[in-house]
Amino acid sequence: MSGIVFFKTGRLEELTDFYVNRLNCRVWLNQEDCIIIKADNLLLGFCQRDEVDREGVLTFFSDSREDVDRAYERLKETAQSLPQVNDKYHIYHFFANDPEGRKLEFQCFDHHVDCHRDGGELLLTRRSIREFRKEEVPPEVIERVLSISRFAPTSRNTQSYYFKLIREKQMLARISEVRGKSSSPIARAPMAVAICSDPELSKRHLQDGCIAAYHFILSAWYYGLGTCWIAAMDRDDVKQMLNIPESHYIATITPLGYPERFPVRIPERRELSWFVRE
Ligand SMILES: Cc1cc2nc3c(=O)[nH]c(=O)nc-3n(C[C@H](O)[C@H](O)[C@H](O)COP(=O)(O)O)c2cc1C
Repeated sequence: MSGIVFFKTGRLEELTDFYVNRLNCRVWLNQEDCIIIKADNLLLGFCQRDEVDREGVLTFFSDSREDVDRAYERLKETAQSLPQVNDKYHIYHFFANDPEGRKLEFQCFDHHVDCHRDGGELLLTRRSIREFRKEEVPPEVIERVLSISRFAPTSRNTQSYYFKLIREKQMLARISEVRGKSSSPIARAPMAVAICSDPELSKRHLQDGCIAAYHFILSAWYYGLGTCWIAAMDRDDVKQMLNIPESHYIATITPLGYPERFPVRIPERRELSWFVRE
């Protein structure tokens, strides 16, 4: 089930402009006198009425303190204070107001929270991460990621792939050296994962392996973990180091960990029309 929180407003047009142009939300559904705004997983409805709802707090949370600081820069004039740490809830936040006086809060959690991204955000915000925080990924988070990764499609449902977890620091350092700068992100992560497939189980094991690897990358991002597709790791020396049979295919070895910082810039993509051929 999904949900929308509705508010009555006397200034629908002005509010829509504020949420879309100042807060980077988007109009999810325009019903003329009721406009539904979307901010990641939050749906807010504003309906033009004679009365106005101002109760409650609308809290927008993001991935990093830098995001909160950027929101502060945009809303300085109504902010009640500088962004600050709240020790009770382990958050970094500030309060401001929308044009009609509703209380807004902008925050990030200073601890890990469970997944909150919806599908579209997941696909749009995934980035290749090459710098990681030192902290280990908790075992229960790895288990959740692996648990949803195994729903990748495979040829004839052969499930010919598997995930080889690499945690030993010395091993991470050795593997990161095999392709110089291209594979170097592996040593900067607390762990790495080789996504492999077995030709004895599937005639399409190369495709099975690649799809499973991308499924893993998206699952990891869903739980806030960074990855980077490191290519050309299907090599005998790597297989020897990792004790992977020579006949098996290594689709990729990705570093895995919490991103050092969340990328704000989306790498350029060509126009949609370039990708579409009729
Ligand atoms: C097949 C493939 C091979 C890649 N090989 C490497 C690699 O060896 N090292 C690396 O740091 N990034 C590698 N990448 C990541 C790309 O550089 C990255 O996806 C691209 O620049 C777009 O950035 P984004 O993933 O943040 O959208 C590879 C990606 C793909 C799909």
